[in-house]
Amino acid sequence: MTTTATRTVRVDLAGRSYDILIGRDQLAGAGAAIAAATKARGCLIVTDEVVARHHLATLEASLTSAGLTHATLVLPAGEKTKCWAYLEKTTEAIIANKLERGDAVVALGGGVIGDLAGFASAIARRGMRFVQLPTSLLAQVDSSVGGKTGINSPLGKNLIGAFHQPNLVIADTGVLDTLSMREFRAGYAEVVKYGLIDRPEFYHWLEAGAWRGIFSGGPEREEAVAISCAAKAAIVARDETETGDRALLNLGHTFGHALEALVHYDGARLVHGEGVAVGMAMAHRFSQSLGLCSQEIPSRVAAHLQEVGLPTKLQDVPGDIGSPEAILEAIRQDKKVSRGTLTFILTRDIGASFIAKDVPADKVLDFLRSEAA
Ligand code: GLY
Repeated sequence: MTTTATRTVRVDLAGRSYDILIGRDQLAGAGAAIAAATKARGCLIVTDEVVARHHLATLEASLTSAGLTHATLVLPAGEKTKCWAYLEKTTEAIIANKLERGDAVVALGGGVIGDLAGFASAIARRGMRFVQLPTSLLAQVDSSVGGKTGINSPLGKNLIGAFHQPNLVIADTGVLDTLSMREFRAGYAEVVKYGLIDRPEFYHWLEAGAWRGIFSGGPEREEAVAISCAAKAAIVARDETETGDRALLNLGHTFGHALEALVHYDGARLVHGEGVAVGMAMAHRFSQSLGLCSQEIPSRVAAHLQEVGLPTKLQDVPGDIGSPEAILEAIRQDKKVSRGTLTFILTRDIGASFIAKDVPADKVLDFLRSEAA
């Protein structure tokens, strides 16, 4: 069975360019698209127990009808799976199933599965074909696009990995119907992020009410995923390995990652997208406190995030997250700190963000103290 994508976004990277197919019911036609994009004869599907229950049978049937042989590795769901032990299990499954370099690893899942399977595909047989079938909103608009793959170290998140671009991404927006509201909302924070980075019209459209259609599964959902992917693709195309502009994608992440670390990555207290929402609201207030943008800007951003039910303040994170000094220390530990200087993504307006290097630590501390008060 083949289906027609309602949207195609191209990631333009010369010999490593690829398409992102976006639309409902894409999983049912994934086999043919994977065969065409990879020319593989066989593949390993890597997924997790939760996603497998909902979507594995559809994918397997589609691969069979496209004539692709396939084996499946089902891993536990959750961030802890992004570790050396499961990386080893995945690479061993590739080798045990006699897959060659021209065969494909197919990630069916959210960001954890995509990052882990992508890294396995980067290193097994010195680099194999790779396809992302993201099943969370966050993975559809962020982690499945742009080639960042990896696992966590006991010393921090995403510290071990490689850039390895997929050959194809298929974002089936219908699969998002099975997400919990909390998970969907957390992914929505990354959608808002693209408007705030450099697409003010997109932000205005979201804020004016398109968000309701995105949440309820209307046509706005495909539109928002496509615009988000196009926004990310444009940045990745000009800075694939994050030597410059790609850092803009970290808007909200410097504060957000610090908060995630301070709650010890306890997803019951704070999931990644929620940390990004608090972080984006803080980055806008910080920009205003530095005199970079008007008072109205952070208020507007916080109001929209609150309207969809996302947290925007330190006080919205349940339990004690620690002192302003502890938050500053967590920021210093984050990999976005380059040789000890503090780098933030700040803004002059909605959709007018920029990379600010060498932000003085005392200004950050003053701001954190005002936020904690
Ligand atoms: N998620 C940020 C990036 O892909 O660069």
